[in-house]
Amino acid sequence: MDAALPPNALAARRVLLIVSGGIAAYKAPDVVRRLRDAGAEVQVVMTPAAGAFITPLTLQAVSGREVRAELFDPAAEAAMGHIELARWADVILIAPATADFLARLRLGMANDLASAVCLASEAPILAAPAMNQQMWKHPATQDNLAALAARGVRFAGPGAGSQACGEVGPGRMLEATEICAATAALFERDLLSGVRVLLTAGPTREPIDPVRYISNHSSGKMGYAIATALREAGAIVTLVSGPTILPPPAGVTLVNVETARDMHEAVMARLPTDIFVATAAVADYRIDNAASNKIKRSDSALELKLVPNPDILKCVAASAAPPFTVGFAAETNDVERHARDKLERKAIDMVAANLVGGAGLGFNADDNELMVIWRDGSRLLPRAAKTRLARTLVDVIAERYAARAAR
Ligand code: PMT
Repeated sequence: MDAALPPNALAARRVLLIVSGGIAAYKAPDVVRRLRDAGAEVQVVMTPAAGAFITPLTLQAVSGREVRAELFDPAAEAAMGHIELARWADVILIAPATADFLARLRLGMANDLASAVCLASEAPILAAPAMNQQMWKHPATQDNLAALAARGVRFAGPGAGSQACGEVGPGRMLEATEICAATAALFERDLLSGVRVLLTAGPTREPIDPVRYISNHSSGKMGYAIATALREAGAIVTLVSGPTILPPPAGVTLVNVETARDMHEAVMARLPTDIFVATAAVADYRIDNAASNKIKRSDSALELKLVPNPDILKCVAASAAPPFTVGFAAETNDVERHARDKLERKAIDMVAANLVGGAGLGFNADDNELMVIWRDGSRLLPRAAKTRLARTLVDVIAERYAARAAR
């Protein structure tokens, strides 16, 4: 397999890459580059032996972060100690994973930074073994692999073929593309396996004339992140999106629309669905008398008559076989009260309310904070990158969806 991952397959995932000391360490920069191309943040930790095969400078250049190697480094520990590193990671990837490193991992050693981080972390561990074929076949290595697998460590490879030492057999580290695909696969979950989800995202544009429109500051980031998180959770996702500059989320059916009426039509045509998530900032009004030619400047006042757009969320909730409906509420004040009001008025199952207009949150920001409210409960999802927040929101949606189905 040599296909690169889609650009957002690992969006905002934090990968702690341990490079241990084997000849395959020369492939580590390619692994880093491809992980970053797929949207991951990558922190490299080298074992002392890795320095014999590759320089920290190379890995620093490709990862954009200072490479960590020392367990007892007061300066580095002051910035992010080994415990913070262990907590920071969403996944620990060991590539290459030498026979020696796997043996130390099995024993729970903590005599260098890399092994200490593995011991201190709850993150899943994926190892890409690389060693001489005889070392791979040795009962000691096989015993270590079995013990680590029983403990939940996952393995990517090794491949078989001719080796740097001139021998032929199993023990070659997989190619960077294969390692990155295995890393992305770790995040696939079956929370919503086979569930159909229809989602709206982004702004709508309401034309004034052929060159002007009314719109809002929605970037689509929140909705696209939710679409990705839903797909990772196993859902079959259709995203109806207003105009954005974001790349299409991988594995999601994307339907591009412009106006609220287009969005309404696209959504209603795709019902029934199991879950509907309305993340879009839909224009509540459109211009009734939009001009078919560009309006010329004049000295007299220009009056635009605004008429209401269809309320897509309300229409979906009132459809013949209503799905589990999740609305968003963008509020500038009294978030919970307004959100509860929306829950009732629109007769929906859940509202994710965000306080907008604040610094660095909500519209067009990378971060958000949500208060998720349903009839008999609520949960605060604290400030986080939208990509991370989306995954937590999907956990809550899956939980409440299952609770409704069980009723
Ligand atoms: O796109 P980003 O830059 O990442 O920003 C994310 C966001 C702030 C836009 C998002 O988190 C959000 O809050 N989206 C809803 C914004 C909004 O328009 O809220 P509202 O209170 O006006 O609408 C309430 C709900 O009704 C929303 O789910 C909305 O999608 C839906 N609605 C509104 C009007 C309408 N005509 N049809 C609808 O379906």
